[in-house]
Parts: sequence; C-alpha cells; structure tokens
Amino acid sequence: MRLIFSFLVVLSLISGCASQDSIQPIETQEILFIAHRGASAFAPEHTMTAYEIAHQANVDYIEIDLQMTKDGVLVAMHDEKLDRTTDGTGFVKEYTLKELKNLNAGKWFNEANPGLANREFEQEKVPTLEEIFLHFGDDVNYYIELKSPRIYEGMEEKVVALIKKYDLIQEDNNLPKVILESFNEDSLTKLHALEPSLPLIQLLSFKEKATLSNLDFERLRGYASGIGMHIKSADQDFIHEAQLNGLQVHLFSIKNEIDMKNAIQLDANGIFIDNPTLSELILKDGG
Ligand code: G3P
Ligand code: CA
Repeated sequence: MRLIFSFLVVLSLISGCASQDSIQPIETQEILFIAHRGASAFAPEHTMTAYEIAHQANVDYIEIDLQMTKDGVLVAMHDEKLDRTTDGTGFVKEYTLKELKNLNAGKWFNEANPGLANREFEQEKVPTLEEIFLHFGDDVNYYIELKSPRIYEGMEEKVVALIKKYDLIQEDNNLPKVILESFNEDSLTKLHALEPSLPLIQLLSFKEKATLSNLDFERLRGYASGIGMHIKSADQDFIHEAQLNGLQVHLFSIKNEIDMKNAIQLDANGIFIDNPTLSELILKDGG
C-alpha cells in the first residue's frame, strides 16, 4: 500500500507541483519517530536526561519546544510560563537566563509520577538550545518548535544563527539534521526567507476532521515540507491528499502502541512519541 502510494506521490510531484522547487524535501520511505519533548514518558520533559534517554532509543529526531528569556536566550520549554515544569512562577520572558538557571526543572515530575521518580531528576535545570547542540552535536537529529514567536522578537534569526553556528544545515542518512515547526505561519514564512534550505513543518489544529482547500495546499507548499496535526483529526483520505500535494504529514501525540499502529495504517510520514521505545516495537515487528 505504502509503495503504491509513494509512487503516486512521486508522479504527482513530477507532474503538478513545480512550485516546490525551493522547498527542502524530507525524503523517507519509512515512518519517522520523533521523541516528543524528549523521552517525556520516562523523564521530565525538555531536560537533558529526557533527550539523552531518547537518544539511546531508536528515534529519528528529538523534539525541542523553544521559549526565550528576558535577555534573549533560546531555552527548551513547552509553556510560556514556568509554573508547570519548574519550581518557578510567571513568564519565561520575565526571567534572565541566570535567574532561570536557579530553578529546578525535575522535581515536578517526581511529584506527578511517583512510580517513575528518580532523585537524579531533581538536579535538572532548564537547558538552552545551545547547550543541547553542544551536548549532542551531530549525533542526533533535531525537530525544533518555535513555540510563541509572536511574543519573542527576533526569535527566528536567533534559531537560524545557532543552527548555522553548529553547522547543522546538513543531511544524515538522507534525513535533514534539523526540521523546524510552528503553529505560526508568519514565523515559518520568515524562516523560509531567512534560510530556504531548512525544512519546515506547519502545525495545524482542526476542531473536527481535517480539511484544507486547494488554495490552502498551494500556499502551504510555497514554504513548508509538511504539516503536523493531532491524530484525532486525521483520516487516510486527508493524509493522502496532503501527500499528493507534496506535503508530509506528521501526527501528534502518540501515547501508546494502538495509536502508533493506527498512525502507520493511516500512512502518516512521522509520529511524535512520548515513549521512544515504541519505535523498537515496530522494528521488531518488521514494520
Ligand atoms: O510539535 C508537535 C506537537 O508537539 C505539538 O504539540 O503541545 O506538544 O508542542 P505540543
Ligand atoms: Ca511541540
């Protein structure tokens, strides 16, 4: 099924989607496994330990959500506020990096998950994007979300500059070393203008089942390599339509084996998984 469909996608791209010339393709026959917020099922999300566990597992990408400090440093955090994942309160943008580094980024996980608690998590600090690049270098692939670009002036320039500083605009086994994602279309089009060789994923949310018009697809393929969306909004017809329009489809957030097999049945190109060992189940099954 996947092979026949891949052939149709290639045919469609050759015949109809010439406007994608400037878009960086993500060329893969296999489904991509993206460790959602690191190995967030096992360790506090967006900590070095969560990324390290994901790195040891068989995933294609580690996912990093970005916020920005008062003094303009990109840090790995999902929420605009500190309250859920640190012992601090208030907005990230109101803290300097030095102030942020005084906070604990792991205690909350032990309190919320007594069965998974580990005293070492209590040593975790909020990592900067640069610290993550320094730690992993080109040993991993990075899937980076600009989380709130509307409130962080210059965020796109900083992300691109850091990716270039660490020489991460490259491919590894035919996979881009870095993929960028955002719900914010203005931010993605800005990123595309800054560095067209970076593949971009437009995150979309749908109230019910996903639909897009031909005009939507045309606009999206002017800057994006694919779309990301919740699995509950996805059906196979929509995924195939997006793929025939030259766009990959990556589904979040996959919590268990049933959802993962469902996403594979739907022909998704990638899945965000909290538990990175799910990828090993599929490899053991032989796909
Ligand atoms: O990045 C895709 C997915 O992670 C979006 O959901 O809320 O976990 O960032 P969220
Ligand atoms: Ca995310």
